[in-house]
Amino acid sequence: MKIVDSVSRMSTFTRLLKKEAKTIGFVPTMGYLHEGHLSLVRAAKKHDDTAVMSIFVNPIQFGPKEDFDKYPRDFKRDEELARSAGVDVLFYPSVKDMYPHGYATYVAVEALSSALCGASRPGHFKGVATVVAKLFGIVRPDIAYFGQKDAQQAIIIKKMAEDLHMGVEIKMMPTIREPDGLAISSRNIYLTDDERSDALVLSRSLERAGHLIKHGEKNPKKVLTAINDMIKEKPSVKIDYVSIAGTKDLKEVDTIGSEVLIAIAAYVGRTRLIDNIIIKAALSAIPK
Ligand code: PAF
Repeated sequence: MKIVDSVSRMSTFTRLLKKEAKTIGFVPTMGYLHEGHLSLVRAAKKHDDTAVMSIFVNPIQFGPKEDFDKYPRDFKRDEELARSAGVDVLFYPSVKDMYPHGYATYVAVEALSSALCGASRPGHFKGVATVVAKLFGIVRPDIAYFGQKDAQQAIIIKKMAEDLHMGVEIKMMPTIREPDGLAISSRNIYLTDDERSDALVLSRSLERAGHLIKHGEKNPKKVLTAINDMIKEKPSVKIDYVSIAGTKDLKEVDTIGSEVLIAIAAYVGRTRLIDNIIIKAALSAIPK
């Protein structure tokens, strides 16, 4: 595994790969790798000649009161995990190299970025879109892989790549879960044992919602009530939002149609967790 720690060296290496007509599969991460990231690497290994992973804790996607300084970092551990998953190139730039003095260019994917998590994390998706656009410019991937756990992020990046003709295919891969259903996240390490146990209500309430819809429930209000009621039973969990939205425009739906994203964000203790499912309703449940 090649480790590249500067933007200019990575750009040079990308040019070499392109000259050799090697396809590039890209997994952008903020490190503290877990099974979710490694599953994306495995997908890249399957579809592309070269698997490139970036590790960069992107300061501009954290709000002033968020956990940028506290965000877990362990490069040695990440390096080992990336190597064992078969990453070919690990790109590990510094903040100074990515955002040198006088940096001035940002990417905003409008409308989609203010929905769901965007409402309580203003500026977050502008930071994400900007860094991913920069990384795409440096790595020039054929395919980039994102986890469904951050479905809004993947939908925004897909829109950005289409709107800006970036020539990269965006693949959204399934959420990886612990055996008891908790969606795997770097932030799970912040949870106490009791909070971790309460956090299970997120995946369980989504499961319940999925069950209701699969059995014909088309009224989003009823499904939202079922989710909210379950979550409210857990004292350490405070809902930020629960939403049933279209998967293309992220707008809340009046009726549950062919495909919806059911998304939850909640504080478990002091840790903000997100989870979601995408439900493709049975044809018989689609209103005319
Ligand atoms: O999902 C993440 O880890 C980050 O938001 C990303 C896509 C690497 C951009 O910093």
